[in-house]
Amino acid sequence: MQIVIASDYQEMSRKAADVIAGLLRNKPDAILGLATGSTPIGLYAELVKDCEAGLISFKDVESFNLDEYRGLEGTHDQSYRYFMNQNLFDHVDIDKARTHVPDGSNPDSDAACASYEAAIAQAGGVDLQLLGLGHNGHVGFNEPADHFPVDTHIVDLTESTINANSRLFDSIDDVPRQAYTMGIGTIMKARSILVVANGTDKAQIVADAFCGPVVPQVPASVLQLHPSVTVIVDAEAGSIIKDRL
Ligand code: GLP
Repeated sequence: MQIVIASDYQEMSRKAADVIAGLLRNKPDAILGLATGSTPIGLYAELVKDCEAGLISFKDVESFNLDEYRGLEGTHDQSYRYFMNQNLFDHVDIDKARTHVPDGSNPDSDAACASYEAAIAQAGGVDLQLLGLGHNGHVGFNEPADHFPVDTHIVDLTESTINANSRLFDSIDDVPRQAYTMGIGTIMKARSILVVANGTDKAQIVADAFCGPVVPQVPASVLQLHPSVTVIVDAEAGSIIKDRL
């Protein structure tokens, strides 16, 4: 595991964008695993700039997002499909037909999750999976648990995640209570993983996840077992871990 502490959010975003841009230059038809949340917004903006400058292209890229709220259509402004269109897909030369997000509008959770897992396998697996970090150590929507969920599955969101995400909705009652998410096994199958985190409020979980024991109560801690992980944090999120490296 390589841990990089950038000076600020902008530098974190640029360094993370460089990792993805480097992959796209080496492998223009890469399979990208993508993430939502406020953390990757800056790195997506950097990728848009690189694409506009002709430095990279998404023309042959296929993408799979980590997760989606159950019950939201892709047109809902808080759906993760909408987020991806707004922050990346609408601004780069990607073929939207090759961008995949779990189908939150499908009430049949077994079908929605099984077909998503199968689509990832059929594409040949993810080359690089981007991850943010929840305050409780969740990745995608894999919440703290007594085991590591393997495949794409339905989850009941924890109160802490509902509270954290309520800032984006009109009221906390509007936050969906369930989501479809890649499993920890799905994520761990990616050939490489890039984690980003910023802000003082992530400092403790960054230290717990990457310097603490590997336990399902801190889902991101399992990444310590993956052979190719890069963690890029800003100075605030790196403020505790910096003394333990
Ligand atoms: C959400 C998403 C995660 C994301 C996390 C952190 O619940 N499902 O994929 O990484 O929260 O979000 P943020 O980057 O806004 O802190």
